[in-house]
Amino acid sequence: MNNSDKFLWGASTSGFQAEGGYNEDGKGLSTTDVRKVPSGVADTKVASDHYHHYKEDILLMKELGLKAYRFAFCWARIMPDGHNINEKGLSFYEDIINICLENDIEPIPTLYHFEMPQALVDEFGGWKSRKCIDAFVEYARICFERFKGKIKHWVTINEQLIATAASDLNGNHEEDKFIQTKNVYQMSYNQSIAEKKAFKLLREIDIDAEIGVVTAVQNVYPKTSAPKDVLAAMDAEEMMMYMLLDMSVFGRYSPRVMEILKENDYLPQMDECDQDVLSYKPDFIGINYYSSLCVQENKTKDINYKLPPFFRSREFEVVNNAHIEKTEWMSNGIDPLGLRTIIYKIYNRYHLPIIITENGMAYSDELIDGRVHDDYRIDYISKHIKEVLIAKEEGYPVFGYCPWSFIDVVSSHQGFAKRYGLVYVDRTDTDIKECKRYKKDSFYWYQNTIKTNGNQLLLSNKN
Ligand code: BG6
Repeated sequence: MNNSDKFLWGASTSGFQAEGGYNEDGKGLSTTDVRKVPSGVADTKVASDHYHHYKEDILLMKELGLKAYRFAFCWARIMPDGHNINEKGLSFYEDIINICLENDIEPIPTLYHFEMPQALVDEFGGWKSRKCIDAFVEYARICFERFKGKIKHWVTINEQLIATAASDLNGNHEEDKFIQTKNVYQMSYNQSIAEKKAFKLLREIDIDAEIGVVTAVQNVYPKTSAPKDVLAAMDAEEMMMYMLLDMSVFGRYSPRVMEILKENDYLPQMDECDQDVLSYKPDFIGINYYSSLCVQENKTKDINYKLPPFFRSREFEVVNNAHIEKTEWMSNGIDPLGLRTIIYKIYNRYHLPIIITENGMAYSDELIDGRVHDDYRIDYISKHIKEVLIAKEEGYPVFGYCPWSFIDVVSSHQGFAKRYGLVYVDRTDTDIKECKRYKKDSFYWYQNTIKTNGNQLLLSNKN
């Protein structure tokens, strides 16, 4: 097996979902702090209290055997008002990075994971404005300069798809749904230009470091083999995934995407000067994969504005896939083979190294006598890792796998009822308790998988 020791067995978290300490040591308010959370659902104020437990958490990572920790900075901790630096915020991340390095864990920071200073939304509307490009690039510069020589892999933006679509996370609160949707495409374009400027900047500041994008990949199946359903599936992949990645890698949208954007009057404004950075590309692509999608032709050709942005389409509509098993929290189903398929698709189009930056199983875990028997999660992760390793063995350059999430974190929209962690954080939505950590059964399973480099998974039948 061509499964070298350098494979980054990692795990992921994000700043606003793990840290808490939302107003401590000079941190500014984040978009994620001010959004309205339904009553009875945990918010970001304490989250998993990683802000106060990070040393203990990194020791747990060491015990697990992690080779990499993929996490995210909170922009508002580093730049509370979006302009000035908060030294204590930078020191916090410096400490995380240093302790990881001392323990032979490669820190992989993401600059933007659904969170930004609310001050920048108040000042100019956040990503709707091109001013946000400059603010982001300045933030990136501060981070690149400060952590030069310590970071081998940077991530710019986590899941542009969700980062632009989730209005509660980015402040795109237009009442008019057409304008709100048009804004989403402008925000996406602005984020792409900000990323390109960050690629360029990192090459100037730290030539040895690499930088990548993280994509919420969409492996879309047609409901039937009817040609119109097949075209609908291709269009869904174009509009929900390739649109974003083509811009990241090739610096352009495909003719099909351009046509659909123009037809709907969604085409973002592009500035002449952007030409200067369009040729900068990422060094790698991060894949966040939870499930696949299934679509059929949208026979009405109307846009359903009740759906979230990106699902609003004249070309396709999302339908149930009867072939995929579903659970309470995995409503799109569980489809391990879809992960291998999407690795093929992404590599065949972009020819860039790939890291799995998120993949995980949500469940309302129960802590009983200090243990969490999450065999359902072990089943999910083992089947997905196996598909990754098969692709790797076939020669696809996948250099790491990071399950979501290392510890339980507050879900992006569903609090602590929905957990993904390898480590249980003892709190509920309404009772913060002490956020004590407990290793789940999946922790021990993953520890053994790392130790054996996943070999036991490949020994079982590939099909
Ligand atoms: C990914 C995000 O989209 O999915 C994470 O990068 C998120 O931040 C994860 O937590 C799982 O989604 P959710 O909504 O179940 O928390």
